[in-house]
Amino acid sequence: MDIDWAETWKRYMQGLNRVKDVSFWDSRAARDNGNWKILSELTKKQLERIDVDFGCKVLEIGSGTGRLTIPLAKVAERVTVIEPSKEMLKLLKVNLKKHGLDNVSFICKRWEDVEIGADIDRHDIVIASLSLLMIDIRDALLKMDAAAKSFVYLFVPAESWMPFELQRIVFDNKAPFNLSDHIIIYNLLDGMGIKANISIINYKVEQGFNNLEELRSELMNMYNIPESKEEELENYINQHVDSKDDSVYYIRNKKVATIWWEKT
Ligand SMILES: C[S@@+](CC[C@H](N)C(=O)[O-])C[C@H]1O[C@@H](n2cnc3c(N)ncnc32)[C@H](O)[C@@H]1O
Repeated sequence: MDIDWAETWKRYMQGLNRVKDVSFWDSRAARDNGNWKILSELTKKQLERIDVDFGCKVLEIGSGTGRLTIPLAKVAERVTVIEPSKEMLKLLKVNLKKHGLDNVSFICKRWEDVEIGADIDRHDIVIASLSLLMIDIRDALLKMDAAAKSFVYLFVPAESWMPFELQRIVFDNKAPFNLSDHIIIYNLLDGMGIKANISIINYKVEQGFNNLEELRSELMNMYNIPESKEEELENYINQHVDSKDDSVYYIRNKKVATIWWEKT
């Protein structure tokens, strides 16, 4: 059976706050900026997989506040960032200044709206980390390939974006999103004639919240969980939290795939 992977992606992404509206990311900028420490294991493992050296020009799509931009800019000659969220960019600029880096330029646009030739030139390396938030993913990937001179690196969740237990709560024991991003993207690329490499990064995250209510509203907003599922959500939360030092920690073992290819 032939699967239309681009259509599968579209169905799965449509209607999600994080895709529809860039203000979702504006509202998350401060939190994302504070998450660098808890993602340090992931950051280290991602950087080990990116082949970048001095003289390299890097294009980073969806940089956020610069978790990868800062270490990349310390090694590369130049980094160009594509980031549609003004709030993310504001914090990225503060972070760059703190690190004394002046080799990063910014384009405040969605990747879909960026034109190669007009907005950017081709770069040696193109990176998109946890930022494939485009509905027309085929066009977005083709543009990434066109923007790269030597390598494209994608970091995509190797698990469903919404944990299975939460899917069961939201969708009444039917879990409709049983494909993770890496399965869709890898197959789509293959069908497009891009024979990519893939490897999985395992990492642990302990995300701190001031209290249970803050965690609850974060999960409801992130996964569009309706109020009517309050009780089930409460049970899920109780199984995934640890409390210490007046804070609540949401604990998960997570997986991200590195999907990369060399320009042919
Ligand atoms: C989950 S964050 C990832 C940040 C960073 N790359 C990291 O790995 O820590 C996703 C980022 O992608 C950006 N983004 C959202 N839609 C985008 C689009 N259509 N094109 C480019 N970036 C986008 C968001 O504003 C946000 O900064």
